[in-house]
Amino acid sequence: MTMTTDDMASFCKRKGFVYQNSEIYGGMSGFFDYGPLGAEVKNSIKQSWWRFFIHQREDCIGIDGSIISHPTVWKASGHVDCFEDIMLVCSKCKEKIRGDTHIEDELKIAADGMKVAEINQLVREHNLKCPKCKGDFEEANDFNLMFKTQVGPSQDSKATAYLRPETAQLIFTNFRLATDNMRMKLPFGIAQVGKAFRNEISPRNFLFRCREFEQMEIEYFIHPKGLNDCPFFEEVKDHEIVYYSAKMQDEKREMEKATVGKLVTDGVIKTTWHGYWLAMAHKWYVSLGAKSENFRIRQHLDTEKSHYALDTWDLEYNFPFGWKELIGMANRTDFDLSQHIKFSKKDLSLFDEETKEKIVPHVVAEPSFGVDRSFLIFMFDAYVDDKERGNIVLKLHPKLAPIKASVFPLVNKEGLPELAKKIYKELRMDFNVTYDQSGSIGRRYARSDEIGTPLCITVDFDSKEDGTVTVRDRDTTIQERVKIDDLKNIIDAKLRT
Ligand code: GAP
Repeated sequence: MTMTTDDMASFCKRKGFVYQNSEIYGGMSGFFDYGPLGAEVKNSIKQSWWRFFIHQREDCIGIDGSIISHPTVWKASGHVDCFEDIMLVCSKCKEKIRGDTHIEDELKIAADGMKVAEINQLVREHNLKCPKCKGDFEEANDFNLMFKTQVGPSQDSKATAYLRPETAQLIFTNFRLATDNMRMKLPFGIAQVGKAFRNEISPRNFLFRCREFEQMEIEYFIHPKGLNDCPFFEEVKDHEIVYYSAKMQDEKREMEKATVGKLVTDGVIKTTWHGYWLAMAHKWYVSLGAKSENFRIRQHLDTEKSHYALDTWDLEYNFPFGWKELIGMANRTDFDLSQHIKFSKKDLSLFDEETKEKIVPHVVAEPSFGVDRSFLIFMFDAYVDDKERGNIVLKLHPKLAPIKASVFPLVNKEGLPELAKKIYKELRMDFNVTYDQSGSIGRRYARSDEIGTPLCITVDFDSKEDGTVTVRDRDTTIQERVKIDDLKNIIDAKLRT
């Protein structure tokens, strides 16, 4: 039996990964709190992402912008006017639900991006009812997803501001400052990790659709004349990926697998840049233990593209509730920089030394990752109900495992706890490790497996004599005798796999 999202939510709560926000007050829909173990995993995801996409590259820098910005930022970006979903309200019980997802659930057709009139027509044609009370719907409406707040002591409309719905805009508004400070030359990326807020009509599927979530985004800027000149494309051209183009969806064909090189040559993916970033995103997930076969790239239909996008591909994951977006990757052209130039009347262009012209760079691919969705998929792919062992084994990549090793004394006497604690304290200086002396060794192994601890270190009577301990591997259960002095290197090597 496959695991459902509800099963994952209860596992996460039981083991201290994720809690419903404000649970003691009945909960707050669309908001979640990460518990002690979840906070570790989430931090590791963000750190690994930052290392992979910023530190390990010469062409990317990172910023950390504010959650609230001048309201004109969101006017210029189009979010105040266009960032909307369609809402259906039940005339009887007043339940509010998202129109497109209701159509998708009921009629099993793609509805993202449908207009109000189309939703109303489908509701009427198919006599769709409220899922809660079976009442009729009122006429559908557009609903803006921006979270409003007031800044300062005033309550008037001039004090209205918005919580950011994406981190991306801070990259555009700081574009010139960051670029000048770091002397960046095109092509280059500016990245940001941080919270985003959307007043989702119907948050659901646990961490998949929340009202407060985190993003890891890169705006990758290129010369407008170099839209197809990705110098790194060679590195990914043989990378295989399952794809589902807009044409295949229109023609109701099945998805297929191909190399990114072929997809670009055949014009399925329009630019080498888009192909490159899609492959890099897929590679990053797989490098951290996600299962390659659970991913595909899907092109947006014309109807579902955001207001700023020329072409968009999502990297999708095969969730228990179907193929859904894990990361979005839009070609935003020069839309955002041009809008901010227009609204701020500031010069955000760059000077092209070769042509001696001012240019406004393009963002031909904007890799926009969700931290919470990433957390969810790493958990799904790691979760194994091991019938032979009789317990769950959370096979998280060691880099993501919340606790890297657990130290046990074999018995709680004859100096073993003292020696085990000494080892634990030394390891704790470098790694997040725990000490556990309660229950049988088997029980302690099972407890460690369930939270994904890659190594268990047992101190026994021989340890006192010869300075060795037993190290047991979570995935293979193989136990090895090693020197206490080698433990740091062993854990370190595990983290580098
Ligand atoms: N800057 C582009 C942008 O924000 P998006 O496709 O709207 O694009 C990017 O969002 C990613 O942010 C999504 O792929 C998803 O991982 C995450 N995300 C968006 N809305 C979310 C929500 N309500 N809850 C959790 N994650 C969300």
